Amino acid sequence: MAYKDIYARWKQDPERFWMEAAEAIDWVEKPTKALFDANAPLYEWFSDGKVNACWNAVDRHVEAGRGDQIAIIHDSPITHTKRWISYFELRNRVALLAGALRAKGVEKGDRVIIYMPMVPEALEAMLACARLGAVHSVVFGGFAPHELAVRIDDCKPKAIIAASCGIEPGRVVHYKPLLDGALEAATHKPDFCVIFQREQEVARLEEGRDYNWHGFQYGAEPADCVPVEGNHPAYILYTSGTTGQPKGVVRPTAGHLVALNWSMKNLYNVDPGEVFWAASDVGWVVGHSYICYAPLVHGNTTVVFEGKPVGTPDAGTFWRVISEHKVKSFFTAPTAFRAIKREDPKGEFVKKYDLSGLRTLYLAGERADPDTINWAKAQLKVPVIDHWWQTETGWAITGIPAGIEEMDIKIGSSGVPMPGYDVQILDEAGDPVGPDTLGAVAVKLPLPPGTLQTLWNAEDRYRKSYLDHFPGYYETGDAGMIDEDGYLYIMARTDDVINVAGHRLSTGAMEEVLANHPDVAECAVIGVADDLKGQLPLGLLCLNNGVNRPEAEITRECVDMVRAEIGPVAAFKLAVVVDRLPKTRSGKILRATMVKISNGEDFKIPATIDDPAILDEIRIALRRIGYEKG
Ligand code: COA
Ligand code: AMP
Repeated sequence: MAYKDIYARWKQDPERFWMEAAEAIDWVEKPTKALFDANAPLYEWFSDGKVNACWNAVDRHVEAGRGDQIAIIHDSPITHTKRWISYFELRNRVALLAGALRAKGVEKGDRVIIYMPMVPEALEAMLACARLGAVHSVVFGGFAPHELAVRIDDCKPKAIIAASCGIEPGRVVHYKPLLDGALEAATHKPDFCVIFQREQEVARLEEGRDYNWHGFQYGAEPADCVPVEGNHPAYILYTSGTTGQPKGVVRPTAGHLVALNWSMKNLYNVDPGEVFWAASDVGWVVGHSYICYAPLVHGNTTVVFEGKPVGTPDAGTFWRVISEHKVKSFFTAPTAFRAIKREDPKGEFVKKYDLSGLRTLYLAGERADPDTINWAKAQLKVPVIDHWWQTETGWAITGIPAGIEEMDIKIGSSGVPMPGYDVQILDEAGDPVGPDTLGAVAVKLPLPPGTLQTLWNAEDRYRKSYLDHFPGYYETGDAGMIDEDGYLYIMARTDDVINVAGHRLSTGAMEEVLANHPDVAECAVIGVADDLKGQLPLGLLCLNNGVNRPEAEITRECVDMVRAEIGPVAAFKLAVVVDRLPKTRSGKILRATMVKISNGEDFKIPATIDDPAILDEIRIALRRIGYEKG
């Protein structure tokens, strides 16, 4: 069947489409129906079924006689180590960890925060939670203690599982002191912490609170899988919104399993037993869906890669991993390719490896620029598929379903809607616009299985952020257009979220930090274009009257504050002092106009601007630090 037929089949009878897709996973009790709409516009999927995510990701492959197949390959050029873990071993390790957690009181519905680098133990911790029906919340290692504390206070975990350290090029990231700092700052205190001690650093444990990973599990009784309702939260994953308070995306269990499993063949075109690699981090949604759950549920081998595209040790690392582990489908962010291209523009490293086993490259996380796509295509000689999705959706909204058929790929487009997504472009009034017309990208409700059910402890915020603006639709926060053939083009965000090296960051959160600097009266953070990372945050600071200190000193303190409060991942290194910020007469800061100035783009002076002369002052200030490209 062609993509068009499959999409039409879904549209004609979504209930049947998803009940059929649900046949591919194991149920303890089958659901009687797919969609539960009694609380519309809040929808649920497969709610009256009973299921376990860990069973589907691990045990069922062992039961089916595939226990010897490799489930996880850990390839860590940064520590010069490699490990292979079979499904059988994974089942035993996860059951033991789950048993130890249960013995310490972790039960279905309890939250567990996981703060770990790219080691298999991070996946094992996620799966052990899933085994018990506990709700994990993985926090990315590049976040500072304050961000971790905010998440601890929001989801109130019973336990925290962390590693002693992570390793970044040239430095050891001391996770344990970061965790201790977060625990001190947080109001909520977990019952206990489990620390995976790495050989690069053995952390100090606090008596009575912290347990060593191995000692903690010693003598534990392995735990069986606990069946949970289809709508039971599998995990909470925090993502950036417009304010400093992150949004806790709640992922329901059954829809997640059904949709991810469907996507592995239809979109990523892999069969069980083949090797799939998503070069991301378990702290992001790509890591949750495509390093951990989807490849394992589908019976693939997943690669857990601990390194960078360049510098660990060189720009050939990705090609080595692909050829050595026989990766069939590879998924990463465009920024990784830009980093490689910058170091190895002629692709000298590519020539050193046999990449004939690779079938397709998938890009997501940020806009894929045509230069990067063309370079990747020329080097790897495989189709390059840009696909678009979000933490909230958990899997692709649009893409090119390579497992269904060989469709045309249009460079600059992130593909066509996946079954389940009725994507529309709306004008300000919420009315659909015609082809090739720019507008807000929205998805007609209900969203398909696997997407967010609500925000943790914040149903009102969920409605306000996503559902209220365009009744009957989910508002994606992206702007774009759809062409005559139904291909989507994502152009920009409609809010103050920026995308730095494929990482989604809130300018509002950075502004909240900067506003706390004693000399800063007012500030704005904008995302300026960057050749490597796509965007970089840049702070514009207005100082209090009478402040007489050198500008460089103040901007350096501001840079340090953002790193300390939000973390190195914010990549906040640019700040400039200005006298005033451009505003509308009602006081709204004109951030989008400043972005256009910094990028050297044409723009209309907003009719509502209070004083147009300020724009020239901004231009001069940006030019002073080399960020006015006009
Ligand atoms: N723990 C602690 N610190 C981390 C971290 C982690 N897990 N991940 C990143 N950081 C730090 C980095 O060391 C860096 O610190 P620095 O300012 O001291 O140099 C900072 O956070 C910014 O990191 P990053 O934006 O990743 O920049 P980089 O210069 O280290 O690497 C790339 C640039 C392009 C190579 C890198 O961003 C990359 O590989 N991107 C791939 C995209 C990706 O994985 N996206 C995820 C979504 S699909
Ligand atoms: P995250 O929730 O971190 O996955 O970030 C989601 C956001 O990243 C989207 O709303 C887009 O703004 C952006 N994004 C993700 N994938 C793409 C893509 N393929 N093209 C353009 N933007 C993308």
